[in-house]
Amino acid sequence: MSTIERSGTFALGDRIVNRLGYGAMQLAGPGVFGPPSDLDAARAVLREAVARGVNHIDTADFYGPHITNQLIREALHPYSDDLVIVTKIGARRGGDGSWIPAMSPEELTRAVHDNLRNLRLDVLEVVNLRSTLGIHEPVEGSIEAQVTVLAELQRKGLVRHIGVSNVTPAQVEEARRIVPIVCVQNAYNVAHRTDDALIDVLARDGIAYVPFFPLGGFNPLQSSILSDVARCLGGTPMQVALAWLLRRARNILLIPGTSSVAHLRENLATAELDLPNDAIRALDGIAASGGSAAPRGTTP
Ligand SMILES: NC(=O)c1ccc[n+]([C@@H]2O[C@H](COP(=O)([O-])OP(=O)(O)OC[C@H]3O[C@@H](n4cnc5c(N)ncnc54)[C@H](OP(=O)(O)O)[C@@H]3O)[C@@H](O)[C@H]2O)c1
Repeated sequence: MSTIERSGTFALGDRIVNRLGYGAMQLAGPGVFGPPSDLDAARAVLREAVARGVNHIDTADFYGPHITNQLIREALHPYSDDLVIVTKIGARRGGDGSWIPAMSPEELTRAVHDNLRNLRLDVLEVVNLRSTLGIHEPVEGSIEAQVTVLAELQRKGLVRHIGVSNVTPAQVEEARRIVPIVCVQNAYNVAHRTDDALIDVLARDGIAYVPFFPLGGFNPLQSSILSDVARCLGGTPMQVALAWLLRRARNILLIPGTSSVAHLRENLATAELDLPNDAIRALDGIAASGGSAAPRGTTP
């Protein structure tokens, strides 16, 4: 068994993926806008991820925009049969790098075609509707019209499976009444646990939960509890944060983001870290004490 397989697998649609995956957002330039300073280094991160057994990569055509998808294509196309690339639609970028809601039927359809072209795919395996009713956090409101557009694109054969992102439990339920939902992607980590109840519902129903900002996002988690547990177990604080997520629920799939091969290796080595129950109890105290490191600087 390779290292990464020790973290186990879970279903994503009708595919089985390793629970340790990779989020590609950090590969674009500063502010997720424009190209990175070293394109070869960015491609090297992607090749290293796949070489180490990652078969679930999260992306979006609005990272860059287009840059991240183009890097994935350049580094990894033709894709191996077991690789599941998950993308998201619902936003676009302004000329100044701003994040702009883009959820009209025309914008959603264009985004699917942009992803197909830049990733060089005939069909997208999983597409998340990233709600931009709120840019920074979920905001209540109907997403029926947008999910219906995605369902129509699925019927046309351009999208195989549908997920939702940056959504409330009510929006997840609304989407599930329209079409099968295979994953939910929301902000969640050891310090920020708004979705605890939702995760349990999704686990019961066999739906993957994919936390974004698993390491705290642009301001990685900092907590003396993380550091203490890491020191005791001979790991790093980031590995402990990921290991806590792996233990939190079987349906959690990880997509930690990094632009660094060294950080990627460190994150994937989390599969070797076993958290004893007393460490879990200590880590549960981070959120219980108000979360010393809640996510900041959110983006789609
Ligand atoms: N649906 C949505 O709205 C949404 C929003 C945001 C993100 N996402 C997705 O979720 C993925 C994960 O989120 P994220 O990348 O924003 O945040 P994250 O995984 O929580 O953290 C990424 C940050 O942690 C640093 N980092 C990673 N590994 C590290 C390590 N071992 N040691 C120290 N620092 C480390 C990275 O810097 P380095 O590059 O220096 O390693 C980067 O600053 C994204 O890549 C994207 O695919 C989705």
